[in-house]
Amino acid sequence: MNSRKLREARIYEEIKEKEISPEERPAFHLSPRTGWMNDPNGFSMYHGLYHMFYQYHPYSTVWGPMHWGHAVSRDLLHWEYLPAALAPDAAYDRDGCFSGSAIELPDGRQLLMYTGTTKINPGEPDSKSLQVQCLAVGDGVDYEKYEKNPVIGSDKLPEGADPLDFRDPKIWREADGSYRCIVGSRPADGSGQILLYSSEDAFSWKFERVLAENKNRYGKMWECPDFFTLDGYEVLLVSPQDMFPQGFEYHNGNGTVCLIGHRNEDGSFEEEFNQAIDYGIDFYAPQTIQTPDGRRVMIAWMQNWDTCTIRTPDYKWFGQMSLPRELSVRNGRLYQQPLRELEDMRTERQSYSDVVLGSGAVVTLPGVEGRMADLELVLRPGNPDEMYRKFELHFARNGEGVHTSLSFIPRESVLKIDRKFSGSRRAIIHQRRAKVPSRNGELKLRIILDRFSAEIFVNDGEQVMTCTVFTDPKAEGISFFADGQVRMDVTKYTLR
Ligand code: FRU
Repeated sequence: MNSRKLREARIYEEIKEKEISPEERPAFHLSPRTGWMNDPNGFSMYHGLYHMFYQYHPYSTVWGPMHWGHAVSRDLLHWEYLPAALAPDAAYDRDGCFSGSAIELPDGRQLLMYTGTTKINPGEPDSKSLQVQCLAVGDGVDYEKYEKNPVIGSDKLPEGADPLDFRDPKIWREADGSYRCIVGSRPADGSGQILLYSSEDAFSWKFERVLAENKNRYGKMWECPDFFTLDGYEVLLVSPQDMFPQGFEYHNGNGTVCLIGHRNEDGSFEEEFNQAIDYGIDFYAPQTIQTPDGRRVMIAWMQNWDTCTIRTPDYKWFGQMSLPRELSVRNGRLYQQPLRELEDMRTERQSYSDVVLGSGAVVTLPGVEGRMADLELVLRPGNPDEMYRKFELHFARNGEGVHTSLSFIPRESVLKIDRKFSGSRRAIIHQRRAKVPSRNGELKLRIILDRFSAEIFVNDGEQVMTCTVFTDPKAEGISFFADGQVRMDVTKYTLR
């Protein structure tokens, strides 16, 4: 039986969804059915469909008591909404159903594992909440919360771990049929750690060990962990709060970290390499799945807590998911490529090779424009005796001062995204610079534009920069400029 709270949310979203036309949404990135979206939750495959749940506040475009929104897809690019899956309607989750994950049980039911929260000083504005891990079981549409919730409460925390920062369980099934989950936690040193739990049946859980410790290196609390084997490495993804920047890494305040290493004999994780997952502005809380053909695919919240104030009161929805990205690890580095099925959406190919830039003019190329586009660029120095000083690309441009720019300075090997002139009315973070490996002025870019975002894959996915733009979709122009001579190959497809 669905609670009144859930029934109300379902009625509300069905009505409000009709107020948003398809053109007002991203074309192939998932956005909330109505209202607010944050983290991806329960990203999984169930009965032949991809399921994506999300942190959801249907009633406004700001964060509020968390529900789980729900959508399904056959190709991870076209999504269909299902009714909201969870509402904060039980004693142990009355202030929010926070992030979590999902799997299929051997009996064919779908299991959701999430964090239930209850405020400890409900009247106070910044009241912290008690956080416990809970289950709900369902058929892919309707879910029943488990009568013995919470299944992992504060009593199953190791010594010193804070019961008020204990969230975001990621569950998986081992080859022997038993279950594991990892949960973000905050030990006595005030920085993050990841806890590992085990279960024979997915319902009764036992604390195993601390899987990884932050020891105050990357931010404070570690949120939204994911853990998997890829290309011979163990990979741990975490989203730390309150990070200090380190050189060109970790600039987001609330950022993402990819730790690459191996498991020790005692089961602990040993890190060998670390890096930011995304070098742009809007990317947080990624979750991964393994597709039936064995690919590791990641989707994140394409937004950042530090930049949510870009929104203005007239927004009908806020928050979107990133493109699904295929992951691999090479030489201790995470590579990301757009999901290959995106290529099936390519139409209207325009290609130019050896375009010479650097005459002082801004160059536009017939057919190279649009806000739903897949753009491939290869840059190389045009003059063997003199390295160019700067390359600059503008997109979402209207010729009247509105644009977002991507610029590259080969001398510094720095790539910069800047959306200051994207139509934002807010003075928030609009720029981010990434250091890319120096290759004598050569640079390869693949830029995926949807109506309200840009994802820039650098050098075959060695780095990615992601940012949202809320520019009027009629600003479709793309232009090129160079200071010094650059030779450029461009291929552009419309995505449909
Ligand atoms: C991360 C996060 C999670 C939490 C959720 C609440 O963005 O803070 O740790 O479960 O959002 O909406």
